[in-house]
Amino acid sequence: MQLFVCESKEDIGEKVAALLIRQVQTKPNSVLGFATGRSPLETYDALAAAYARGVVSFKDVVTFNLDEYCGLTKTDANSYYAFMQKNLFSRADFRTENIHFLDGCAADDKAVCEAYRAEMQAAGGIDIQLLGIGTNGHIGFNEPSDAFTDGPFLVTLSQSTKNANGKYFADGSMPTHALTMGVGDILRAKKLIMIATGESKAKAIAAMVNGPVTPQCPASVLQTHRDVTVFLDAESAALLEGGIS
Ligand code: F6R
Repeated sequence: MQLFVCESKEDIGEKVAALLIRQVQTKPNSVLGFATGRSPLETYDALAAAYARGVVSFKDVVTFNLDEYCGLTKTDANSYYAFMQKNLFSRADFRTENIHFLDGCAADDKAVCEAYRAEMQAAGGIDIQLLGIGTNGHIGFNEPSDAFTDGPFLVTLSQSTKNANGKYFADGSMPTHALTMGVGDILRAKKLIMIATGESKAKAIAAMVNGPVTPQCPASVLQTHRDVTVFLDAESAALLEGGIS
């Protein structure tokens, strides 16, 4: 696992975008796994800016997002689909037919999850998967549990996640469930890039890097992947044992 402590969120965004842009320049039909939430916003700004400057095109890029809330339509402003449209897809030349999302409104969640798994496989697997981390150590919406999962699945969101994300919803309207890629799906990506900033992530980052590999801290499983790059700021790196080499 390679760890970098960066000066600012903007600095992280530029560095992560540079890695993604290099990947797309080398392989224009790259398969990119995206995350939502606060952490990747500067990266998406930097990708949109690079597209506007003519540095990169995403027209042949295939995308898979990590997760989606249950019960929110694509047009709901709080859906992760709407988040991606607003923050990235509509700001560059991504093609709608290349964008893959778990459908949190489908009646048959098992069928949706199985189809998503098949689509990832048919696309040849994910080249780079972008990740954030929950304050409880979740990746995607893989909450702390007794076993690592494989394959997309329906998850009951933890109280910690409801506390962290509830602020985006009007009183009490945050969904209680989501569809998410499993830990196994994330580990199959050829390269993983994680972004974590702020003091609230420090404990989870220390557990991910220095703690045992355990489903009680789902992100700790990244210790078993051979190509993981983690971008931190001083606050999120503050509890790491022995600092950063
Ligand atoms: C989002 C996702 C989550 C977030 C995590 C951190 O698609 O899968 O694991 O990455 O909850 O969220 P932020 O970045 O908002 O702190």
